[in-house]
Amino acid sequence: MRAPAAKRGRPARPQTVFVRLSDRVALGYANGRIIAQFEDGYEVSLGAFSAAATQPASALRTGLPLAALGARAKTAAEIDRLVRQLAAMGLVEYPVRRSPTKDEIVIEPQMAGYWPQAAPLRNADVLALSRFAYLRRRGDDMVLESPRAAALFRIRDHKITAALARLATPQPVGELRKRGPAIALLALLVDCGILFKLEGDASLRAAEGDRELVLWDFHDLLFHARSTPGRHANPLGGLYPYAGVTPAPPAVRRRWPGKKIDLRELLRAPAQASPAARLLHERHSTRSFDDHRPITLAELAQFLDTTAHVVSTWQSQVDLGDARPTVAYATRPYPSAGAAYELELYLAVEKCDGLARGFYHYDAGGHALVPIGVGTQELAALLTEARLSMDAPAAPQIVITIAARFGRVSWKYSSLAYALILKNVGVLIQTLYLMATDMGLGGCAIGSTNIDLFAKMTGIEFHIEGPVGQFALGRGTRSAASD
Ligand SMILES: Cc1cc2nc3c(=O)[nH]c(=O)nc-3n(C[C@H](O)[C@H](O)[C@H](O)COP(=O)(O)O)c2cc1C
Repeated sequence: MRAPAAKRGRPARPQTVFVRLSDRVALGYANGRIIAQFEDGYEVSLGAFSAAATQPASALRTGLPLAALGARAKTAAEIDRLVRQLAAMGLVEYPVRRSPTKDEIVIEPQMAGYWPQAAPLRNADVLALSRFAYLRRRGDDMVLESPRAAALFRIRDHKITAALARLATPQPVGELRKRGPAIALLALLVDCGILFKLEGDASLRAAEGDRELVLWDFHDLLFHARSTPGRHANPLGGLYPYAGVTPAPPAVRRRWPGKKIDLRELLRAPAQASPAARLLHERHSTRSFDDHRPITLAELAQFLDTTAHVVSTWQSQVDLGDARPTVAYATRPYPSAGAAYELELYLAVEKCDGLARGFYHYDAGGHALVPIGVGTQELAALLTEARLSMDAPAAPQIVITIAARFGRVSWKYSSLAYALILKNVGVLIQTLYLMATDMGLGGCAIGSTNIDLFAKMTGIEFHIEGPVGQFALGRGTRSAASD
């Protein structure tokens, strides 16, 4: 007997993706231009728009259906242009709704320029949660995110989170159509890499469509993507977020109780200090450079030779029982965990006597600089970000980006690969500081590097080879040299 129709309930209305202005910004209209107005009073013109566009623009505060953009009408085209501009600046988010008022999900872009896209899905496709996806509480919400994804999903409906969690076990799209989360949502999640299509790869770790991902542990990829700019929208840098919560921890740790052994009387007189001890004491950070006397190509060649040129190469076999893979090594002047030497130097040159402005890779084996063709805007952005990070009056003469070939370390080390890479970066940075000091040059470590910008400049994906450190180099101004 058929169940009465009323008890089966009405079919759910399809979910619709809206676009809405971020809380951080308001839109104003003056002299035929739409202006983005930020909380701190900063304003940016978004260009000329007709008066007719201001009404739908103001509707962006509550949200416009994404599908309505791109329509032929003149105003719709203007709003499409406005929204894409705001998206490129990371100033919109995307509620997913069945009714005009209730956000079931809000998609928060993590990378400027993210645009919701539905991946094509066929009934035969088998979907699974990426092993890099995770669900966590943020405030009163649950957020679903992944270091691979250009957006995170703030989920307001617990039924949706439960349904997505079931995708820990792969499921065919045909089955999910009958009793799964809305297919439109699944298609958005596949596009972000939070879900992936299983393609007969049932190995220890599914490649998720990219063989390079096999080499990453979950926590390492997350740490890499979240601890530097480029792939997330979290507050970043010296913002003193806990200054109002707790006093600053002391500069020097409180002494342990007990009788101390005083070492001061054993100190050598400064005049007796060794050259290495003197070098360590002379080393300091230099943030302003003498652009009338830039570093020369000969000095740069000596600097790179002493700090990073390959010293020797050899091969060795790893004994793994049946398998005995051969590993090649190329040592350099600084120590490196497991002799991996995964760190590469990329030079953004602003001013160097004898070397054209541009972007170069240092070939550590051949002791050569190889130019890489990059856009002038990208080169300028890298130099400007370095200047801002140092709060310096002008761009440094050279910015050395230290990039890691991650797989070189994670091929061998489980759980600690990324930590080892960061330790290697610290070792290399001190090596660069000491050599710069020894040569009468100036340098300064830079703590944050934009991994998305580097990916755009090199065309290498962020998880294959990417920045883990930076060092500004040049001839310091006389006052900086004597600081
Ligand atoms: C890992 C690391 C990151 C750093 N990041 C920055 C930075 O982003 N901007 C900056 O101006 N200085 C940076 N510095 C330099 C420190 O501010 C500097 O070493 C510290 O103030 C001590 O001064 P000194 O190097 O002159 O002895 C960094 C240093 C290290 C080791």
